Amino acid sequence: MKEIIKTEIDKAVKELYRKEVVFSIEYPESKFGDYSSNIAFVLSKVLGVTSTEVAKKIVDFFGQSNSKIFKKVEVAGPGFLNFFVKDEIFSKNLDSILKLGKKYGQSKINKGKKIIVEYSSPNIAKPFTVGHLRSTIIGDALANILNATGAKVIRDNHIGDWGTQFGKMIVAIKKWGNVNEIKKSKEPVKDLVALYVKFHEEAEKDKTLDDEARNWFTKLEKKDKEATKLWKLCVELSSKEFQKIYKRLGVSFDTAVGESFFEDKMKVIVDEALEKGIAKVSEGATLVFFENDKYSPLMLLKSDGSSLYALRDLATDKWRKKKYGKDVVIINEVGAEQSLHFKQLFETEKLLGISNSNDRFHIAHGLYSFKEGKMSTRKGNVIWLEEVLEEAKKRAEVFNKDVAEEVGIGAIKFNDLKRDSTKEIVFDWDEILNLGGDSGPYLQYSSARAFSILKKSSKSPKNIVPKDWQVTDVEKQLIRFPEILERSAIELKPHQLSLYLLDLAGAFNNFYTHNKIIGSGEGEAYKLSITEAFRIVLSNGLNLLGIKPLKKM
Ligand code: ARG
Repeated sequence: MKEIIKTEIDKAVKELYRKEVVFSIEYPESKFGDYSSNIAFVLSKVLGVTSTEVAKKIVDFFGQSNSKIFKKVEVAGPGFLNFFVKDEIFSKNLDSILKLGKKYGQSKINKGKKIIVEYSSPNIAKPFTVGHLRSTIIGDALANILNATGAKVIRDNHIGDWGTQFGKMIVAIKKWGNVNEIKKSKEPVKDLVALYVKFHEEAEKDKTLDDEARNWFTKLEKKDKEATKLWKLCVELSSKEFQKIYKRLGVSFDTAVGESFFEDKMKVIVDEALEKGIAKVSEGATLVFFENDKYSPLMLLKSDGSSLYALRDLATDKWRKKKYGKDVVIINEVGAEQSLHFKQLFETEKLLGISNSNDRFHIAHGLYSFKEGKMSTRKGNVIWLEEVLEEAKKRAEVFNKDVAEEVGIGAIKFNDLKRDSTKEIVFDWDEILNLGGDSGPYLQYSSARAFSILKKSSKSPKNIVPKDWQVTDVEKQLIRFPEILERSAIELKPHQLSLYLLDLAGAFNNFYTHNKIIGSGEGEAYKLSITEAFRIVLSNGLNLLGIKPLKKM
């Protein structure tokens, strides 16, 4: 709809002033109009006349032109233009929704684009943290949204399965663990984490342990048999855990090559960086220094020659560009605490010609905090994700036992998706599960309400507008869905979609409260088509967010 309005305004401006300018279209408060624009201000600057004058001229133009789109155009304040769309446009749109169903809202704005969305990326032999949960939820929604706007999306789980911590793990398993017992354990990852914690406790007292760990990681890098076997054990046990979590969250990936895969693809990068003078050796370590010390130096190799996280990222992106094509866009959904890392990385990739500035994005999410404070694997004060999900399910049982899992998971997801991802979250069960508020259960409940109305009525939806019908806010919201979805995709912000769904559900629930639907006689069929259209759009939106629209609750 926004596009159509833009085109109409463009036409008017061309006829009146023979000009083409860039302007914006917004949603005003509903009593002021359906859409508003700053066009008069833009033109007043270009033409050197007052914005009120321009605005009046445009209003007159539409007044005389017998517009097919606008019922009314008004000037507000010093030259804002408010547009009221003709009623039949809203009712016609219901037809589109009912006809397109699941496809309503999809677009082609990203057609031809290939986008890697990398998200989740937990670490082997460590807990799947709430940070990884945020990444999983936001990344998955983003991938869905980009896919719905025509992009070819590659969902990539960049598993942390390499690094010096595996030297520590190996030492700990050998010294204090028992492989057979770990294999038989009900919660093997917890056992591994306990060993990791023990390592750090012991290393405080015994300084030789760190050297030992370094040696074991070097052995692992050199493919030592024993080291590899213990590492593989960790990978297998953790992967099983992760799969359980992904299944519950309803998330899957197209590819999951871990950091270890890039072990033999790193040397060329170091060589090239040194040769081109991008990296230098300083006190034995290899680092990238940035112009004017824009960022602190990025370390690629430690002085003992072992590879670092950043180097693995460079190798990963070089490989991705080769595999998926130079034009592939790469998005990393990773916590904001790694923002500097990604700035350094993007800059280095530019210097090395791996990527340029417009094909790399870091979507940073803020910290998740519990009342208990920040967690640290090293110290062992860990919040286990399984337990959080279980708790969500248990608490959701108060609504309906049969769908407690869907409601619990949906609640956690929406709590994350309803705010700008960069915002921090303080975990609050009351907010997450509040049926009356901005929550997942509220949306699922609204979906169930629409289902139940449609089921209970003996009539079927028919798009025949009753006499004297006043267009409702629901109809006005429904027409916005495609443009909101586009905006979410362009800005890479799923919360735009979430906020819209809250507005939409609010409009529908208000409509439901003030209008009798079932048994309302002549208007019933039309009200049912509004209800059905609402059900479709809400389902489409929730599915994009990875939340199950419920039939019953
Ligand atoms: N495994 C890392 C962590 O848990 C996140 C990986 C993010 N992705 C990347 N390409 N560096 O901190």
